[in-house]
Amino acid sequence: MKVLEIQGGKKLSGTIRISGAKNAAVALIPAAILADNEVTICNVPEITDTDALTEILQYLGADIKRASESILINPATIENKEIPKELSTKLRASYYFMAALLGKYKYVEMYFPGGCNIGARPIDQTLKSFKALGATIEESENKYKIYAKELIGAHIYLDMPSVGATINAILAAVRAKGETIIENAAKEPEVVNVAVFLNGMGAKITGAGTSEIRIRGVETLKGCYTEVIPDRIEAGTYIIAGALVGDHLKIDNIIPEHVEMLTLKLKEMGVNLEIGPDYIITSKTENLKPVRIKTQGYPGFATDLQQPITTLLTQCEGTSILEETIYENRFQNVPYLNDLGANIEIENRKIKVNGKTNLIGTRVEATDLRAGACLVLAGLLAEGTTTITNIEHVLRGYEKIVEKLTDVGADIDLREE
Ligand code: EPU
Repeated sequence: MKVLEIQGGKKLSGTIRISGAKNAAVALIPAAILADNEVTICNVPEITDTDALTEILQYLGADIKRASESILINPATIENKEIPKELSTKLRASYYFMAALLGKYKYVEMYFPGGCNIGARPIDQTLKSFKALGATIEESENKYKIYAKELIGAHIYLDMPSVGATINAILAAVRAKGETIIENAAKEPEVVNVAVFLNGMGAKITGAGTSEIRIRGVETLKGCYTEVIPDRIEAGTYIIAGALVGDHLKIDNIIPEHVEMLTLKLKEMGVNLEIGPDYIITSKTENLKPVRIKTQGYPGFATDLQQPITTLLTQCEGTSILEETIYENRFQNVPYLNDLGANIEIENRKIKVNGKTNLIGTRVEATDLRAGACLVLAGLLAEGTTTITNIEHVLRGYEKIVEKLTDVGADIDLREE
């Protein structure tokens, strides 16, 4: 097990450069399969989630070259065979392979995807989309065999604007016959990133970024070049770090519009913030005001920033209320924050954060990716030593987190235990 040890209370200043977005890269890599020749994806973060996906591509026989931040993928040599369980259950995003292989070969065989244990996370909307396009699905013991003679464009209504289901429906429909309309689609920037990539290959997708996406199926897709957008969740996490312990901490290479729901809340709290064209500078602010936050799909407050911002809420003078509407099990960070000295009560899907409380280092566990990020932030602030176990969860989604924080003045160490 990997463990992160943080000596808290150090002021962070300087610049943190934000990497490519995990949740975009994990869709773009499987989407590469849909092209008939080489694609180049630039600004790919080096995290264990992207490693796991390239491992699956390699297993399938794709020709892959990694050149610094770019991945060159030639899918021409792929053999469409069953993806072994140990590869597909490492992460949730492996289900993009379901859609990309189905979209291209009209056949796929693989196991139910894995991912953080933050709720039930069914894939019924993805499967419903495949069925609407004409696919047959056979399921036994978490293994799926999905096939179609041909995929035919359809009118799909998603029961909730799920990012995964939206991207899966797009991937399966781009090479289908005729027009597909996806209603109640997710509007997240990662969905737009995928649509731009596919359009670069020759797909005909309009409306990505709105709740109605239209796709006119094409027969072939060619290789192209694309870039992963900056990671708005990584950016948000470090912006919050700046508000906790920053001294003019600059978060660079970002799209400020993508974190607007966060910066608006921070302003409401009174956080000292400077927003530039592609950067945000934050500093530790005293006398923070408590706020109410409710997680929602984009452009609402991102569920992925709900756990990180909880650390900042412990520093507000009064009671903040945070409501989680997307996942039913995303408060596993709370008992550990309380162990560090926070005063937080859980009431069903809401938490009440009573501030301001002093945090004091102790040993805590990262139960999932963003819970881990929340505890890293708490460790940066807390007096003394915070030891965070199971840090593998955090390494799935934050590129070079130790180096990035060390470079701006944190005292942080990663070790095996
Ligand atoms: N849902 C269903 N049925 C479905 C799909 C989703 O009921 O077929 C429900 C889920 O149970 C959940 C909600 O809809 O309550 C959202 O699920 P969604 O499918 O949007 O989540 P996802 O695609 O699994 C992506 C990110 C998450 C992020 C959410 C929301 C990836 C690989 N994951 O998840 O990222 O929280 O969108 O923005 O892109 C993370 O990065 O820490 C993370 C969990």
